[in-house]
Amino acid sequence: MKDNKFLTLGIETSCDETAISVVADGREVLSNVISSQIDIFKNYGGVVPEIASRHHLENINGVLETSLKEAGVALDDIDLVGVTMGPGLIGALLMGVSTAKAIAFASGKPIVGVHHLIGHVSANFIQHAELEPPFMALITSGGHTEIVQVDDYDKLTVLGGTRDDAVGECYDKVARVLGLGYPGGPKIDRIAKEGNSEAIHFKRVYLEKDSLDFSFSGLKTAVLNYLNSEKQAGREVNRADVAASFQQAVMDVIVKKAMDACETRKEKKLVLAGGVAANSKLREMLDKECAKRHIKLYYPAPILCTDNGAMIASAAYYKYTKNGADGLDMDAYPYLEF
Ligand code: KG4
Ligand code: ZN
Repeated sequence: MKDNKFLTLGIETSCDETAISVVADGREVLSNVISSQIDIFKNYGGVVPEIASRHHLENINGVLETSLKEAGVALDDIDLVGVTMGPGLIGALLMGVSTAKAIAFASGKPIVGVHHLIGHVSANFIQHAELEPPFMALITSGGHTEIVQVDDYDKLTVLGGTRDDAVGECYDKVARVLGLGYPGGPKIDRIAKEGNSEAIHFKRVYLEKDSLDFSFSGLKTAVLNYLNSEKQAGREVNRADVAASFQQAVMDVIVKKAMDACETRKEKKLVLAGGVAANSKLREMLDKECAKRHIKLYYPAPILCTDNGAMIASAAYYKYTKNGADGLDMDAYPYLEF
């Protein structure tokens, strides 16, 4: 406790970011240090789990020190240690969980394990001081695509999710075949602005009537088939047109399903979360559709959309406030339900 504020240390290592943050009273970011391994994985075209774990191990103590220093606090001032316990890469998760346990054990502070996706949703509590549940959430990241009813800080019901690829994964794969590099999301977002989204028609997959599930693997294959057939015919491909047409096909489906979810549940608040929530097309389309329906749209700043420790600290604070601490026997889980 410092200046009467409750300080949470948030640790996130579920994929390729080693991130640690200090957050006061669940919403005020005092530091948000993110050591990204993107430069390393550019050369591999994606994350290599074993290499990611080794880099977390090398980086984590330095990230912790920097985070405390930037917040102007000592480990003794921290009231709660929050850490991502899943879902994610197991070796990577264990680096964060082991560090959190070591800190909690040595300092006698309580520890709380956080669901990574509840963390992503909680990034919005930091960004929007007035936001409180209930609301609808659209979570789109490298590993997940879900529409979730959030009734309380720790009460989430999944209404729909992807049956195959996650949106971010699809962006990354399409970017790779277009030769745009890793991570593909921001690159496709940028190049699509120069392209024509109606140049190529890729089928929109809505699945069964009223279903809030997604399927993106067919779209990914359609892009690959298009590129192969153009190559075989000796035609040059306009990458901006392919990116824009692919992105439009993804977003048409996501936006329609998010609007359907809000309308059927009569929900007037929609929250975006996860790496793909940084996408400019998604924000632009939802801004418009939500305005038409008088739905208030919330999204975090781009730095809070992708993986960070602040969102984990915020989620940990609310979980602790409602349910208390976890034991030191808490663990990491590659797959984890809400
Ligand atoms: O949430 P996140 O940092 O990690 C996971 O939990 O997966 O999300 C990373 C994903 C990557 O697939 C990345 O390509 C995508 O988010 N992404 C984007 C954008 N920025 C990041 N996708 C589309 N447009 C963006 N601007
Ligand atoms: Zn994430």
